Amino acid sequence: MADRYLSFTGTGPGRFLTRRLGLPQPAPLIRFSPEHPALDGDVLLLTAGKSGLDLSAAVPASADSSRRAAAAVLDATGVRDTDGLADVHAALHPALRTITAGGRVIVLGAPLDAADHHQAAAQQALEGFTRSLGKEIGRGRTVNLVRLTDPAAAASTLRFLLSPKSAYVSGQVIEVGAGALTAPDDPDHPLAGRTALVTGGARGIGEAVAATLARDGARVVVLDVPQAEADARRVAERLGGSALALDITAVDAGDRIAAALPDGLDVLVHNAGITRDRRLVNMDAGRWSQVLDVNLASVLRTTDALLTSGALHPGGRIVATASIAGLAGNAGQTNYGASKAGIVGLVRSLAPRALAEHGVTVNAVAPGFIETRMTAAVPLFIREAGRRMNSLAQGGLPVDVAETTAWFAHPGSGAVNGQVVRVCGQSLLGA
Ligand SMILES: NC(=O)c1ccc[n+]([C@@H]2O[C@H](COP(=O)([O-])OP(=O)(O)OC[C@H]3O[C@@H](n4cnc5c(N)ncnc54)[C@H](O)[C@@H]3O)[C@@H](O)[C@H]2O)c1
Repeated sequence: MADRYLSFTGTGPGRFLTRRLGLPQPAPLIRFSPEHPALDGDVLLLTAGKSGLDLSAAVPASADSSRRAAAAVLDATGVRDTDGLADVHAALHPALRTITAGGRVIVLGAPLDAADHHQAAAQQALEGFTRSLGKEIGRGRTVNLVRLTDPAAAASTLRFLLSPKSAYVSGQVIEVGAGALTAPDDPDHPLAGRTALVTGGARGIGEAVAATLARDGARVVVLDVPQAEADARRVAERLGGSALALDITAVDAGDRIAAALPDGLDVLVHNAGITRDRRLVNMDAGRWSQVLDVNLASVLRTTDALLTSGALHPGGRIVATASIAGLAGNAGQTNYGASKAGIVGLVRSLAPRALAEHGVTVNAVAPGFIETRMTAAVPLFIREAGRRMNSLAQGGLPVDVAETTAWFAHPGSGAVNGQVVRVCGQSLLGA
């Protein structure tokens, strides 16, 4: 379903009318394509507080701050008190006007120090700052906070955030641990030689995830229910991969995946999901359990089976799909909200153990309003509200979720673990 309002506000009369009426003015987002692989412009490197970080390997900085910039990276890891916060203002206040439409602001923060409440207050302040700036900056620009200790381990994350691939990711706080950096042999095909399985890959977001992982060099396996087998085959053939007709709720789904992939797999994307909306007072037990089973129980079962059998190779990646409905709650979606919040719990608990015991990271994407068949079926006015109620005033595209998944899957993202990253244009729903 095309966003006609976005097209209209791009015309002269549309701009005039929407400005006069005080209506949202979404800026068209610039997304990755082979013709447009990078942001147009320089990256300003700014510092607040005393930082000991060497960012040269992680951020391609430019020295000339008088030119218009595509991004500003503010190193605020050295901010330890409220005086340091004054430096945040001093650094970004003059720089903001130089950042082009569709540009990026990335704030780098340090982990909160439990033994120093002044440092913790100042570092936590960066979250409120980031989210507030994201809501006001406008013109398709995004603002995110990355907490890090080791810039080299955060290089894949900074590259993602400084690229057109992160166009719909804003207002996020991402923590990156320390760790050895694994550089791919071929930077244009970082997943070459790897196998990725995408559940629910026959259409919608899953199809885009499969296509994006294939673009990055992965051999993709498109899993979907037997009723969608023809679509799954069509997608797989287009991407040079294979299809697997399987209902993910089958109790032995993990074993059947392992049997279909005797050489194992590297990337497991739990994307399949369903809604069966009703207010709780009208919801029968069937609707409740169907949603919990597809969206959560089957994710737990297949994850356990594939991890314990060793089918997921060391260096592997699990990416699950949450939703902002699981973070903020949504009327009519107690089943769906519960299932998606469960994904967050799964990720936070399993991530450290999966990395320590299997060398596998576990993260989740939490999509907001994404333009798919699922959201095209939403009644007009609710759909319009869903699209506009975010800082970018528009819906995201399946490819936005796919690019975030590809960043998690990247060989250089081994220090990104236990994260739930919203792909929601900084939705007003939930933090
Ligand atoms: N579209 C959005 O705005 C949005 C927002 C937040 C979260 N999500 C989540 O993103 C994921 C994909 O959403 P979408 O909009 O592309 O949905 P979609 O309905 O277009 O596609 C879902 C796919 O999953 C498959 N599937 C369903 N049950 C399955 C099962 N038991 N076994 C195997 N495959 C199964 C379907 O056949 C379908 O191909 C879901 O987890 C959804 O909850 C979507």
